[in-house]
Amino acid sequence: MHKPVMAGNWKMYKTPADTVAFFEAFRPLVAATRHCEIVICPPFLDLPAAVESARGTNMQIGAQTLYWAKEGAFTGEVSGPMIRSTGATHVIVGHSERRQYFGETDATVLKRTIAALEAGLTPIVCVGEHLAQRESGQTESVLCEQCLHGISGLDAQQFAKILIAYEPVWAIGTGKTATPEIAAEAHSIIRREMRRKYGDQAAGNLRVLYGGSVKPDNAKNLMAQGEINGVLVGGASLDAASFAKIVNYQS
Ligand code: 13P
Repeated sequence: MHKPVMAGNWKMYKTPADTVAFFEAFRPLVAATRHCEIVICPPFLDLPAAVESARGTNMQIGAQTLYWAKEGAFTGEVSGPMIRSTGATHVIVGHSERRQYFGETDATVLKRTIAALEAGLTPIVCVGEHLAQRESGQTESVLCEQCLHGISGLDAQQFAKILIAYEPVWAIGTGKTATPEIAAEAHSIIRREMRRKYGDQAAGNLRVLYGGSVKPDNAKNLMAQGEINGVLVGGASLDAASFAKIVNYQS
């Protein structure tokens, strides 16, 4: 089994100078950490500073989205090869905020995921239900649809390289974390769908991260669930001490 992945999504926070300051504080706090992979996803502009700050450490850097063309007349967009050229290794795809505010759909999530893989980046593909969908008993069908249309178009080699993040939209930035049991149940639905398409071994190797109000005081209980193979942290990843406590949830 691969190591868990403890990832931070900074969203639209921090300048390059803030990024350097974060890493100065964060580096010593995780210098001895070996039990997990650490991935930090700052805004595009901060990628070079983050890559430079993480050089020679156990940390990896990711972007928060990408466009699927390699280059072209697409004002404002950034491509996979451009992200890779900074030294970044990961990219978040289909975050619920991208779906909600920027019109991303399962179809464009799939295009972006394939483009990320072609650029040599590890996509962190996000899925998750809204509150109304959970309350009306649609969680399972929403997750299945997102997996079917956003992920199942990958071939087996491509699938082996992705990470999936389960982020219930009602738990993002709200302080309402899914209980470890709720998260584990959703993860097992995702893994079951992936098993159907890609088989036991590939589904067993898949790492599914949980995201949504992960904090230093709930990371350990979430990570105690066998189905949870890491976390994708928003707000609590902006502060070096708090993200270090999450990364080092065992101690
Ligand atoms: P919060 O941890 O701030 O709830 O954000 C979660 C998230 O959206 C990570 O991608």
